Amino acid sequence: MPVKFYLPENQVPLEMHKVRVVQKLTLLPVGERLKAIQEAGNNTFLLQNRDIYMDMITDSGVNAMSDLQVASMQIADDSYAGSETFNRAKAAIKEVFGVDNVLPAHQGRAAENILAETFVKPGMFTLMNFHFTTTKAHITRLGGEVLELLDKKGLIPQSDDPFKGNFDLKRLRAVIKEKTPDKIAFVRVESGTNLIGGQPVSLENMLAVCDICHEFGIPSVLDASLLQDNVYFMKVREPRCKYMDTRSIYQLLASRFDIIYFSARKLGFSRGGFIIASDRKWTDRMMEFVPLYEGFLTYGGMEVRSIEAAAQGLLESLDMDYISQGPEFIAYLVKELDDYGVPVIKPAGGLGCHLNCSEIVPDIPHDQYPAAAVGAAVFIAGGIRGMERGTMSEQREPDGTERFAELELLRLAVPRRVFTLSQIKYCADRVKWVWDNRKLIGGLRWTQEPKVLRFFFGRMEEIGYWQEELVAKFRKDFGDSL
Ligand code: F0G
Repeated sequence: MPVKFYLPENQVPLEMHKVRVVQKLTLLPVGERLKAIQEAGNNTFLLQNRDIYMDMITDSGVNAMSDLQVASMQIADDSYAGSETFNRAKAAIKEVFGVDNVLPAHQGRAAENILAETFVKPGMFTLMNFHFTTTKAHITRLGGEVLELLDKKGLIPQSDDPFKGNFDLKRLRAVIKEKTPDKIAFVRVESGTNLIGGQPVSLENMLAVCDICHEFGIPSVLDASLLQDNVYFMKVREPRCKYMDTRSIYQLLASRFDIIYFSARKLGFSRGGFIIASDRKWTDRMMEFVPLYEGFLTYGGMEVRSIEAAAQGLLESLDMDYISQGPEFIAYLVKELDDYGVPVIKPAGGLGCHLNCSEIVPDIPHDQYPAAAVGAAVFIAGGIRGMERGTMSEQREPDGTERFAELELLRLAVPRRVFTLSQIKYCADRVKWVWDNRKLIGGLRWTQEPKVLRFFFGRMEEIGYWQEELVAKFRKDFGDSL
């Protein structure tokens, strides 16, 4: 629970852990930052980590481990079959979720592949609050279609709605009736809804989705990759959860959803992934794909030390001191930026802070990639690497025209337990400088545009010389400082 400071003006989120292993960072001079982003084709995925001061591209696989996680890795039992490590992971999953049936997968998208292979047939629909890139790719690859049934309030960039990830339950019912239950592969609830800004789903809404699925005999699936943030928000924003402990929330969900899967790169502060179910009829249906795609049933493509770390990390996902750190730091960053007038997605969610680039650079058209341009500017300003979540991350239509993103966002992820508050404050300060100098920012155009997943590999260049002008302004404002 938040610690109260004596003087209200001193109130900041307080870490309930200390740092005992550190990694040296460098902050390049602004001229070298310009060179690095231009050499990376203005694509933050192509930057080298050695050139980055704050890596805010993702919260996946980059969360800090605890002392107990590091210690647990020493006792990993490296056996192909029947590993004690896997038994310990199963015991941790039982402790958190209360279920016995566990399948391993090498990461979240591998679990999605297994789910899709098991349930999706050509012409079938999967219904979800919102898609995630890898989830959708596996479903459409198999001839299935994704229908998004997010309550439309979730797409309003700035609001005070505490659960913007909620399903529109009326539409869920209507779509099930319209498409008929036998055509629906499963209904998937994504906790901590990633692509709309890490926004949570309420416990009430999740349980209502389960009830509807049950009524129509459709499998209910929870993507729990971002569940620890979501549980934190349930505890602080949903009255019925206030007096529930975190374990009872995880266990209630596991008793009501047919299947839960997650990326242990997020939930578990480690690497890897799992699929779990309270009734073994579900895991039995999926089991055969594990040795086929992943590895034997007791490691599933994961390295045993990561499984040990994930087991301990899952236990830590019960601890409010740990799971509050991410959301509280994100809330701090969002509040600082909001106070400065910078347009950000509100309310603050989990995962990271999302800058609304359509409002920061309204004159840059979608096909000059405003969010990627702001991403390059933020890197030039502070050596801070974010992730474009806008038109650049979309795929062109089959006829070659652009598909414009609904929201042009730059995601600044806050990996858990990694940054100090002074670094978060530095980030807010440099983003404020970008905001004050937004008029200097111009568009980008492709120099190499791959046909698939262009946001990963594609290269762009500035239109004109706005980046050099931005550097000149930086030097004027910051002098010799990095
Ligand atoms: N589901 C959600 C909600 C995710 O955010 C991710 C990954 C996955 C599934 C896939 O898991 O990476 O272990 O294969 N999100 C990462 C991100 C990539 O940066 O947001 P994975």
